[in-house]
Amino acid sequence: MTTKVIKVDPFQPSDETLASCAEVLRSGGLVAFPTETVYGLGANALLPGAVDKVYEAKGRPGDNPLIVHVARTETVASLANEVSSVASKLMDLFWPGPLTLLFPRSPVIPDRVTAGLPSVAIRMPDHPVAQRLIDLAGVPVAAPSANVSGRPSPTSFEVVYADLAGKVDIIIDGGPTGIGVESTVLDVSGPVPRILRPGGLSLEELSNVLGRVDVAGEAGLGPALSPGMKYRHYAPRGVLLAVQGEPSRQRETILLEALRLLSCDVRKIRVAVLASSENLAAYCKLQKHFPDSFFVIELGPRNDLSKVAARLFSSLRYADSLGAKVILAESFPRAGLGLAVENRLKTASGGRELPGRQEGPLRVMMVCTGNTCRSPMAEGLFRKAWEELGCPCPAMVVSRGTSTVEGLRATPEAVRSMERLGIDIKDHVSAPVTREDLEEADVVASMTSGHRDALLARFPQFSGKVLPLSTWVPEEVHGDVDDPYGLGQEDYDRTALVLQRGMQALARRLSEIVCYEEGID
Ligand code: TXA
Ligand code: MG
Repeated sequence: MTTKVIKVDPFQPSDETLASCAEVLRSGGLVAFPTETVYGLGANALLPGAVDKVYEAKGRPGDNPLIVHVARTETVASLANEVSSVASKLMDLFWPGPLTLLFPRSPVIPDRVTAGLPSVAIRMPDHPVAQRLIDLAGVPVAAPSANVSGRPSPTSFEVVYADLAGKVDIIIDGGPTGIGVESTVLDVSGPVPRILRPGGLSLEELSNVLGRVDVAGEAGLGPALSPGMKYRHYAPRGVLLAVQGEPSRQRETILLEALRLLSCDVRKIRVAVLASSENLAAYCKLQKHFPDSFFVIELGPRNDLSKVAARLFSSLRYADSLGAKVILAESFPRAGLGLAVENRLKTASGGRELPGRQEGPLRVMMVCTGNTCRSPMAEGLFRKAWEELGCPCPAMVVSRGTSTVEGLRATPEAVRSMERLGIDIKDHVSAPVTREDLEEADVVASMTSGHRDALLARFPQFSGKVLPLSTWVPEEVHGDVDDPYGLGQEDYDRTALVLQRGMQALARRLSEIVCYEEGID
């Protein structure tokens, strides 16, 4: 099928242009058009054959019902068996706008539209193009978001075109949409109104009018009732992880995770971060180290979630276009549009979360075999390097062995090497690595890749944290740090110098992450 593209003025679309699109709609064709939320893929809601084509073009599961769009409130009376006083009030207050209401369905609505449900979802979009198009068509218009099923919803013509060209009759180019997340779907049939899908109209705005409003899917409220909520949705191609915790912890967590992913990678993995404006500069600093593999995408400020909502879907698609295999997304306050943002990120990530790192000092662990030479030296050297940086954020460093017993002292040669560098490790006592150690640590540097393998054979769940020192700081340490055990003082001194450079580099890099506010370069 050839798809016709029609460009219109989004504020003052000409009737002449829209009339031809309206005619296609009325007679059973598919027309994609802009609304104030996202682009919709419209079909005449009264023609089952036309509605079938919508499911087909999107590849949408047949049990996920469509929203019927109207241009006038009066139309609702012919589509619904009953219009309650609460529904009337909401229509008066919030239509046209990003609020979809459920009504008991009238027999004129084909089964295909509601996927057999007894209710029909109706909304009146607040966009000059959508309104005029529907009005000119003179029929109610069933319109899901104009994307291939499962992909992020379309907030621009270009995305609709990429997903649906060749599958629909007309795509109307009305520029970018405003709100960026879909309408709020509200069920007012029960004693307490219930949001089935948070969206462009906030919970607060609804509560102001309705009093208590529940949100389906929240703790204690049972599963969501909107059939669409059970499908994987909005998903980018890369693995999306929603990062939790307080904003600065989120920032540190993302930077550490990105550093690990980018450092350990031999396959040149690409990582993208969906960032709040507040944390942007910190990410850009890390980006300088990984210009070809780390990408920073700004969503918007925490105190203006309308920007975040508006950019969310296009950012997910942008991350895909950059080839990001892992996308680390900050989470935002749940107020206002934040509830919809949270809902979309949760769905897009398939519920995968990255917990924010804990409050408190940065925890670093050095690991070798016996915990009597290399790792205690590294521990002492890291502590000194951190002090010398004058970093105001505390760091806690420990060292452990992959196969050792508790209570051994550092070898005399190790103690002497360190003394020469002004570091006292006389009081060091050895300890084997435990699961708790790995759980607590933010960063684990092993002296060789063999140590890493040994650790991960026992504790595979920590594969993300543990890297050989040469991977954390490849510019300073090349390959395994050799074991001086049993060799002479000179060999110890040589190892000490390698470790000194490595620890200084590691301290610098990590201080950038945790001491961002203090602006250490
Ligand atoms: O902002 C929007 O709502 C956009 C624009 C194009 O208007 N449309 C949109 O449609 O997001 P769609 O199909 O992508 O999402 C419709 C949602 C789905 O989660 C669906 O399950 C739910 O509305 N829905 C539709 N009819 C329903 C019904 N009778 N009962 C419960 N949920 C319903
Ligand atoms: Mg959709």
